[in-house]
Amino acid sequence: MKDFRCPLCKLPLHLNPQGFACENGHQFDRAKEGYFNLLPVQNKRSREPGDPKEQLQARRQFLQAGFFDPLRQRLQVVIPKEAQTLLDIGCGEGYFTHSFAEALPDAQVYGIDIAKAGVRLAAKSAIDKNRNLFAVASSFDLPFADQSLDVVTRIYAPSKDAELWRVIKPDGLLVIVAPAENHLLGLRQRIYTEVRPHEAPVTPEGFELVRQERLTIDMEIKDKTLCQALLAMTPFAWRLSAVLRQQIEEEGLVDQLDFGIYIYQRQDC
Ligand SMILES: C[S@@+](CC[C@H](N)C(=O)[O-])C[C@H]1O[C@@H](n2cnc3c(N)ncnc32)[C@H](O)[C@@H]1O
Ligand SMILES: [Zn+2]
Repeated sequence: MKDFRCPLCKLPLHLNPQGFACENGHQFDRAKEGYFNLLPVQNKRSREPGDPKEQLQARRQFLQAGFFDPLRQRLQVVIPKEAQTLLDIGCGEGYFTHSFAEALPDAQVYGIDIAKAGVRLAAKSAIDKNRNLFAVASSFDLPFADQSLDVVTRIYAPSKDAELWRVIKPDGLLVIVAPAENHLLGLRQRIYTEVRPHEAPVTPEGFELVRQERLTIDMEIKDKTLCQALLAMTPFAWRLSAVLRQQIEEEGLVDQLDFGIYIYQRQDC
């Protein structure tokens, strides 16, 4: 495996019985759940960076109920079948990363997230412990070699343009999923007096937008636990008043999921 690089000295990482090591002797053991910790302590801004465990578990519960299935299926079609290496950045608990590994049965499919709780959940349910690997790492300092990846996916997660450009192969693809205009509009209208439309992401430097798609899904949630899960995983939902929150949990929610899928090709600068 030649795709990972040492987060400390940037030399290639090689597999050994305990995990990965570079020629300078930096060793990164494999955790019992199967993931690697490639986030140097000096890059940790807090003790538990990234989404908290409760939010990750709520997201898992909501995703597993199938509401994001049309997006999952569409993304399986959007990624090129000939990709040999794919990295899902900000992979959370791995819902989409697993489905990429399913769609690309011969490829190395990696997922990284800065939240250890997410990576742990993702690694536990990896569909193949050898070619579907997860690591705790930051998308601002990716532990991957230059030009090592055919495709990088970024689904509701942060990134740094220069790092994306560095790790993607020439002509490789970057797939970004971001909320589109009507995403959870009903919920947002109940919270904000004036709802600002979501804007399309700015094209990352060094990339060209080659295609974009919109996917709108009508959603009706009747189950109280699933309403609670949606509210727990939605960053702006903390603004709901207690009365509104209770009303939603008791009456359910009818709304729309609305996604923009943006496909960019890496350019030679
Ligand atoms: C809204 S969640 C999306 C998770 C997953 N992509 C999905 O759609 O199910 C955003 C994720 O980005 C992660 N994240 C935040 N900052 C990050 C960073 N600097 N590097 C890597 N991941 C980060 C969070 O921990 C969280 O798991
Ligand atoms: Zn090293």
